[in-house]
Amino acid sequence: MSETAPINQADADYNGLTLALSKGRILKETLPLLAAAGIELLEDPAKSRKLIFPTSHEAVRILILRASDVPTYVEHGAADFGVAGKDVLLEYGAKHVYELLDLKIAQCKLMTAGIKGATLPSRRLRIATKYVNVARAYFASQGQQVDIIKLYGSMELAPLVSLGDLIVDVVDTGNTLRANGLEPLELIADISSRLIVNQVSYKRKFDLLAPILESFKHSVGE
Ligand code: ATP
Ligand code: PRP
Repeated sequence: MSETAPINQADADYNGLTLALSKGRILKETLPLLAAAGIELLEDPAKSRKLIFPTSHEAVRILILRASDVPTYVEHGAADFGVAGKDVLLEYGAKHVYELLDLKIAQCKLMTAGIKGATLPSRRLRIATKYVNVARAYFASQGQQVDIIKLYGSMELAPLVSLGDLIVDVVDTGNTLRANGLEPLELIADISSRLIVNQVSYKRKFDLLAPILESFKHSVGE
């Protein structure tokens, strides 16, 4: 980054740092980490239709995205860094971003689940999920070929209406499974959110990134 260029957070040729976050629990749980790094949102994204938000830190602006789009923005350099669930990173196959830090927020488990007490059919199983790559890899690792039914949400509904035998989804309290007569079955992975960084930004904007990364590390006890 040029030392003399002024930083205007609204510019298309913005030359500060762009952080990609998703609304909801990741935004909520990242705010204290950002505050400790001297970065505060000037406006509440929950009350705005805007997607780019300036912050109190003149060199940092925040993009608010769908959780599953965060790795794409960071990989392509549209954002310099971002916070994404490990479930999203596993599904996306985020090989071209640096996964620098486990932020230990939005913790849950990626699991298989099915109707409580049900016996599984002996034919090839049908798995309803938004995690199609993770599900295929998991069942293959168990020596099982399965048919995947791609969904975008409310996975717990699928087995209740015979759309698939099992689901693959994240489970925290287990309340959503229980409320729908399902039970958790096998653990696929423990999940938490990770700080990811674009590989070029990590080199080119290291001076801007380093103090923020250090502060995040300190906040999460690393
Ligand atoms: P998208 O909008 O792209 O479909 P999403 O609806 O899954 O994503 P969120 O519900 O905000 O987005 O979840 C963001 C991340 O939080 C998930 O990727 C996962 O890592 C974690 N997560 C999801 N559900 C829970 C939960 N019930 N408890 C704790 N962490 C969770
Ligand atoms: C997630 C996930 C499950 C639920 C699991 O959904 O897709 O449906 O959370 O959490 P639980 O085990 O604590 O019930 P979503 O983000 O829509 O749910 P939430 O915001 O209501 O937790």
